[in-house]
Amino acid sequence: MPTTYRIAVIPGDGTGPEVVAEGIKALNALGPKCDLQFEFVSFDLGGEAYLKDGTLLPDTVIQDLRSTDAIYLGAIGHPDVKPGILEREILLRLRFELDLYINLRPVVLLPGAYTPIKDKKPEDIDFLVVRENTEGFYAGSGGFLRKGTEDEVAVQDSVNTFKGVDRCIRFAFEACRRRDREKKLTLVAKTNVLTFESDLWERRFRAVAKEYPDITTDYQHVDACCMWMVKNPEIYDVIVTNNMFGDIITDIGAIIQGGLGIAAGGNIHPESVSMFEPIGGSAPKYTGKDVINPIAAISAAQMMLDHLGETRAADLLFRAVRKVVAEDLESMDAGRMGMGTRAVGDKVAETVSLLDA
Ligand code: IPM
Ligand code: MN
Repeated sequence: MPTTYRIAVIPGDGTGPEVVAEGIKALNALGPKCDLQFEFVSFDLGGEAYLKDGTLLPDTVIQDLRSTDAIYLGAIGHPDVKPGILEREILLRLRFELDLYINLRPVVLLPGAYTPIKDKKPEDIDFLVVRENTEGFYAGSGGFLRKGTEDEVAVQDSVNTFKGVDRCIRFAFEACRRRDREKKLTLVAKTNVLTFESDLWERRFRAVAKEYPDITTDYQHVDACCMWMVKNPEIYDVIVTNNMFGDIITDIGAIIQGGLGIAAGGNIHPESVSMFEPIGGSAPKYTGKDVINPIAAISAAQMMLDHLGETRAADLLFRAVRKVVAEDLESMDAGRMGMGTRAVGDKVAETVSLLDA
């Protein structure tokens, strides 16, 4: 009997549905090879649904999502909806309500993918960013005073709790141990300026490090990290950082590994239903043209398999993606791949069927 997983699918906006379809294709190809079966339950959320009848994220949907094994998300974001609404009411709300406290973003340059950093090779760009995903500036704490006047004050608080910082740091140490590479964890913060927030992070980092004598620790200010990621990305194994810094540095991470067409991430609660997504967004100008790169979405499906404990299937999918990127794609950029979105998905599915499980 195959193991069956119920996967919630939120295709979302723009090119989201197109790339998610290719990820589903890959998962279905893996099924018979790895004795797995997937049952997909689709949820109509995003800009289109909001513009139609005001639907954002109903509580009943959150309940339904909780009963699935994982969530597979395409993209949320619509050019006709004011920025902030869909992000806060759907994406961030999902992160908060499901307590997806880790945003896991691997930065891996696959052979055949283009890095804008001169002379860097796949062996130089292979690290993992563990971003805190429920606190910091994203918590939504703050407000205005005298709004709309020339005496206006706008305050946005960065919320950092002992529990939130501690669990994120612990996850990063565990991930570093499990990765079993250089066993080096770098804390990225700003202790010279953020004397409260970064202080808490540094104290928890030092305290938890005592429980992981096998792991070397390092510290960098976030501005220096932006520089080193571009100059010497090979110095990283695992990075742990807060929500905002993690958001920013993972865009650098995405571009040095070949761009948004290839970067995937997981919004994770280690013991509970988690959500996986390509991090490139809805890319409205490419919608419906069969030109967007589905590799990021397919890699998100691979992270989902890993999270579900299906390491053999995850590894098979990773090898297939690696092969297709190296041998079949001309570029990772939309419209320049040398083949269409669906053809890339077909190629990955076909490669999955041909490789040894
Ligand atoms: C990301 C995105 C989101 C974030 C936005 C869309 C709210 O940039 O997932 O990195 O800032 O977390
Ligand atoms: Mn971002």
